Amino acid sequence: MAVNMAQETRQETGEVPPLDPARIRADFPILAATVHGNPLVYLDNAATTQKPRAVLDAIARYYTEYNANVHRGVHYLSQVATEAYDEARRKAAAFLGATVDCEVIFTRGATESINLVAHSYGRQHVLPGDEILITGMEHHSNIVPWQILCKESGATLRVVPIDDDGNLIMEEFDRLLNERTRLVAVTHVSNALGTVNPIRDIAAKTHAVGAVVLVDGAQSAPHMPVNVRELGCDFFVCSGHKMYGPTGIGLLYGRAELLDAMPPYQSGGDMILSVTFEKTIYGRLPSKFEAGTPHIEGAIGLAAALDYLNAQGLDRVAAHERGLIRYAESALRAVPGLRLMGAPRQRAGVIAFTMDAAHPHDIGQVLDEAGVAIRAGHHCAQPVMKRFGVPASARASFGLYNTRDDVDTLVQGLHEVNRIFA
Ligand code: ALA
Repeated sequence: MAVNMAQETRQETGEVPPLDPARIRADFPILAATVHGNPLVYLDNAATTQKPRAVLDAIARYYTEYNANVHRGVHYLSQVATEAYDEARRKAAAFLGATVDCEVIFTRGATESINLVAHSYGRQHVLPGDEILITGMEHHSNIVPWQILCKESGATLRVVPIDDDGNLIMEEFDRLLNERTRLVAVTHVSNALGTVNPIRDIAAKTHAVGAVVLVDGAQSAPHMPVNVRELGCDFFVCSGHKMYGPTGIGLLYGRAELLDAMPPYQSGGDMILSVTFEKTIYGRLPSKFEAGTPHIEGAIGLAAALDYLNAQGLDRVAAHERGLIRYAESALRAVPGLRLMGAPRQRAGVIAFTMDAAHPHDIGQVLDEAGVAIRAGHHCAQPVMKRFGVPASARASFGLYNTRDDVDTLVQGLHEVNRIFA
């Protein structure tokens, strides 16, 4: 992508000073913890990230200084809370590069954002004989909602396959995309492989057949600068807790014109202009999609996380993690009996692997004894496991606070796995 390449060039010419993980680590209280007597090495960032003090403090300040419901009260506390909640939306919209704030809807997370689009946009636009195109590397949350929609609507789900390196086979994408395609749902970065997909190309081709594209950004937004207009997507979803913010809060970006024409997903308080027993007039964006008391604390915490990420600079985060991943790839390749899962052209966030000596769960357990947290299993991406002919994999996933020392400790643990199980 043009943006990332420009940023990469700036990094390489030394224009952007590198991230200082030692300073960053001091911002995350949990990173001082010990696990089974060893210093914590946290490499499960694709599952959830740790939270900087700035996020914890923002949440505590909300509850200790201005806790009140939003958009309802005339009293002082409610006005302060409402301003903070609305400010959080402004920050999220700026973070994603939305044109207007009301293009950002607060949801429970990427999963709910996808369900919202499937239920609302999907039920309105997808008819019998239509097709929905997804890829072979989607998380279950970007498969199941479309399967349900297809079942309900009589549409067909098509799947773009992936090659042995874990890249999308774009010739197959071109072949499967056609005038019956209504929506393409694709992950920006695979949570099981780390593959970065060519979203701009996919979006341009999707628009050329008159369809819309939803991008699952759960694993990209924490790792690289994201601009929904540069990407050309119609919908973009992400989760706060994978971006150093709280759980239970996420974002749905949708082009205003699309969101405006979509029916509500849930209904109740705060999403109406007027209600009588005969007729309800729905509220405007974004409230139309935010029924009930929202996750106020979550939005405020997420805004603090976005401030934190912006202060570090997403281009610097991307460069730091790219270096770390290159280092980890070559260190892991040197571990006897270890096979990396896939070798994508562009990788972010994640390295998955299997070992001849042990099942991924055993690998995870031995590493845990050493204080190293990784994820072992199918990573909610069973079709990827099937594609690679394994029931499960071990996955190390990186964040802005990880260091080469973390990778070295991981590798030491993997040698221990070989020693124990060989
Ligand atoms: N989707 C998260 C993961 O990949 C939970 O671990």
